[in-house]
Amino acid sequence: MDVFAAMSDRQSARAYLPKPVARADIEDIFKYAGQAPSAINVQPWEYVIVYGKEKDRLVQRLKKAQAERKITCGPGTENPLPDIFKNRSRRASAAMAPRIAEMGQEFNPFVEDGSCSFYGAPVAIIVAIDRLFPKIRYLDVGLSVSYLLLAAHARDLATCPIGLVTAYAHDIAEALDLPENKEIILSIALGYADPQSPINRFKTERENLDAFCFWYE
Ligand SMILES: Cc1cc2nc3c(=O)[nH]c(=O)nc-3n(C[C@H](O)[C@H](O)[C@H](O)COP(=O)(O)O)c2cc1C
Repeated sequence: MDVFAAMSDRQSARAYLPKPVARADIEDIFKYAGQAPSAINVQPWEYVIVYGKEKDRLVQRLKKAQAERKITCGPGTENPLPDIFKNRSRRASAAMAPRIAEMGQEFNPFVEDGSCSFYGAPVAIIVAIDRLFPKIRYLDVGLSVSYLLLAAHARDLATCPIGLVTAYAHDIAEALDLPENKEIILSIALGYADPQSPINRFKTERENLDAFCFWYE
């Protein structure tokens, strides 16, 4: 697949077919995630790939934690977002709203069962970084995650980054027995998208260049 086509066509999937992903296919896309550039080539990204019975166990643990704490999805900023950012987020929610209604059931990917895409997908990826790195190295991890999402898309695999579950990072670390020095910064659902599900049938829009490029010449 052409890299430009992959970048334009990729979109997050929040409903998955109950079809397992072969280990070799998972390894294949991670080879590309590992090709991302990083400062002085330290490659600070770490991925914990959870599937099969281990994923079921993790989901049970997360469902329990979510039922107890009911943390909702937000921008993660201390102060409310300025309107310019809030409006982008509102437009994405508005695009999703009719699809959620079509689901005919209580389904809100941003609230309690915000990890629904994670729950339904055959593979859950936990993205981590060693705590010794400064926050700026999250950037390198983000680059690797981008490579991963595009490689998955090129191989007909769907993904959805899920920030919400990091609110339950402690539960995840305990369930998977992750070392203390690993900081969980994202999770990603991976699997084959359910093309019939309404929640997979909307596309978020993007700003034009003049909204985010500032030229000096
Ligand atoms: C860091 C990050 C965290 C995200 N967290 C969530 C989440 O918790 N739940 C969810 O349904 N989608 C989540 N998303 C997906 C975004 O909503 C999605 O990428 C955005 O609306 C653009 O849509 P697209 O990926 O389909 O192009 C997250 C994406 C990123 C990059």
